[in-house]
Amino acid sequence: MSTNNSQGTIDNLLHENRVFQPPKHGPGPWHLASMDEYRRLHRRSVENPEAFWAEEAERLAWFRRWDRVLEWNAPDAKWFGGGTLNACYNCVDRHVQAGHGEQTALVWEGEPVGPATSHEVSSSAYSREPQIRRLTYRALQQEVSRFANVLKGLGVGRGDVVTIYMPMVPELAVAMLACARIGAAHSVIFGGFAATAISERAIDAKSRVVVTSDGGNRRGEVLKLSRTVEEAVSLAASHGHSIADVVVLRHTAHEKPSERFRTGEVRHGARMHWWHDLAAGVSDACPCEAMDSEAMLFLLYTSGSTGKPKGIVHTTAGYLAFVQMTARLTFNLIPDCGQLFWCTADIGWITGHSYVLYGLLMNRVTTLMYEGAPNYPAQDRFWDIIERHRVTQFYTAPTAIRTFMKWGDELPAKHDLSSLRILGTVGEPINPEAWMWYHRHIGRDACPIVDTYWQTETGGHVCTPLPGAVPTKPGSCTVPMLGIDAVVVNEKGEVLPPDKGGLLAIRRPWPGMLRGVFGNRERFVSNYFGRLKDPATGTPYYFSADGARRDGDGYFWVMGRVDDVIKVSGHLLGTMEVESALVSHPAVAEAAVVGVPHEIKGNAIHAFVSLKPQWLKANARHADDSLKAELVGHVSKEVGALAKPDVIRFAEGLPKTRSGKIMRRLLRDVASGVEKITQDTTTLEDFSVVAKLREDDE
Ligand code: WTA
Repeated sequence: MSTNNSQGTIDNLLHENRVFQPPKHGPGPWHLASMDEYRRLHRRSVENPEAFWAEEAERLAWFRRWDRVLEWNAPDAKWFGGGTLNACYNCVDRHVQAGHGEQTALVWEGEPVGPATSHEVSSSAYSREPQIRRLTYRALQQEVSRFANVLKGLGVGRGDVVTIYMPMVPELAVAMLACARIGAAHSVIFGGFAATAISERAIDAKSRVVVTSDGGNRRGEVLKLSRTVEEAVSLAASHGHSIADVVVLRHTAHEKPSERFRTGEVRHGARMHWWHDLAAGVSDACPCEAMDSEAMLFLLYTSGSTGKPKGIVHTTAGYLAFVQMTARLTFNLIPDCGQLFWCTADIGWITGHSYVLYGLLMNRVTTLMYEGAPNYPAQDRFWDIIERHRVTQFYTAPTAIRTFMKWGDELPAKHDLSSLRILGTVGEPINPEAWMWYHRHIGRDACPIVDTYWQTETGGHVCTPLPGAVPTKPGSCTVPMLGIDAVVVNEKGEVLPPDKGGLLAIRRPWPGMLRGVFGNRERFVSNYFGRLKDPATGTPYYFSADGARRDGDGYFWVMGRVDDVIKVSGHLLGTMEVESALVSHPAVAEAAVVGVPHEIKGNAIHAFVSLKPQWLKANARHADDSLKAELVGHVSKEVGALAKPDVIRFAEGLPKTRSGKIMRRLLRDVASGVEKITQDTTTLEDFSVVAKLREDDE
């Protein structure tokens, strides 16, 4: 491995396989303080899983205790059957009832700096400094209950799906918890997605209510979210799905409410409402519904290699039990210990669901939410926030860390980061160079780094160091979480010896696992449980779609996806999604998209596009840069800015197998400039296509 790092030491560290021992002290006493303890607990947790998970479930507040810990008819798991509980009660009400109502649940900081603007809406529930809001558990309970009543007033009830498309503001958390409170499921859509993506998801989820905001702040600009929602409503209507109600939070207030719409006004068949109009005078008391353990808590759409995004279904008790445990152990959460946890992920991703919101509130540790960009108004914004708020645990993504490296060591050096005790990363493999930089420049060589490997589908961490117990190695997500029976296997399901690359599988069910793909049983079964099984019994294993190896110490090294899904800046994208967007442009005959390693983003998107000659002729257009720009804009409009191709290459034809499948691996090689194609091309239909693609390169 090569590096241009000025210290020149990282290579050696990697070759030496350097190991970093856990520090003696963390943010409070360690929950687990030695590798022996980890090993003993892990063994017990997989040998006697029911007893182990029952203990974890005891930590939740139940309305009715469960009868059975697990019913497993692979691939269907039912956890804590017979029990009833409520997610919002576990995050909020139980703490208020236990006398912690005045504790801060959530600290929010907005992007704009300087005094609060005059048109921001003030609410008596918030104590407010300029751009900083703090919500106590009691205030959160009141706001959530009020909004739960608003939703009820719109006819939302148990089992309904509410679509949420909002910036990172406290009301996003309020809306999610309000859904949970009344037994509705939320489907949060990341604010970077476009109207088509929103309407597609709302249609799939049969969701009739959308909660949004007039805008979100990003690098001094306002993203007009509710306008995008209006477009999505009209698109959904054109596909025969009517969205009944849209609730709009007034947040950026870039336009006067009266100039946008009046509450109750109908647009494209949907009634438009201002949040503050609906909430005015509504009671802030609302009981928590008693939900079955297996009631759907939320849907979260994630990209797949084929077809449309998948609505991953998570249910109540299992998800809560798993997330409270993983949050507690991975980040050593302890209430009343001065901890302030900051996860920089957007709530629109699973990381935000589990480790901005649910995992933190269940453990009664204060969570910090920041709305803006890391480089606004300056590139040291994150370090400034950590210093001012005295953040103790910080959780971010490798792509962000690589960007911070590029911005320079002097930026974190300007700030007092001594409050930090644990650092975390998530989302993609972290290269050892970035790991070392994070350790030195942010962690001052004193903080353990928890490299957490997991997925939307797993609900929470499945491989990660536990910071007080597990020695770390840069680039490895180390060992399985308690209760997780993770292995590296071959296609036959046989466990591979150390250092052999294979497929990452989980042999037994765990409470936080997905329960389905919404409305698509077949996809659930075939994607996750159709490929690997126990060679002796034939019982399906959960397949992650990631390649990995385990070293001689049993540490996992994740190598990345083995399917056609790419991670770009930590966002998961199906090559299919981008390809469908491209071919929906009238100029495009065929498209193939591949991920190519990229220094900062992890992967860059390269698109190979063949054009329709007739269309070019009829419209007097050429295969030139202006058409490339138009196609990039088209993808951005169809899927969202996050899916924009970095490179578009026009090709006369795409390499295909004799059965007509595009040979993506080959394109990947072409795109990354591999000198000589060593792959098996015996099934290639016409080799001249590849030769042509390479010539185009010159
Ligand atoms: C990748 C994000 C290596 C992996 C929580 C997985 C990682 C996909 C890590 C899931 C890590 C996530 N090391 N790879 N620590 N964390 N991944 O659903 O390929 O957005 O399958 O969930 O991210 O992405 P998702």
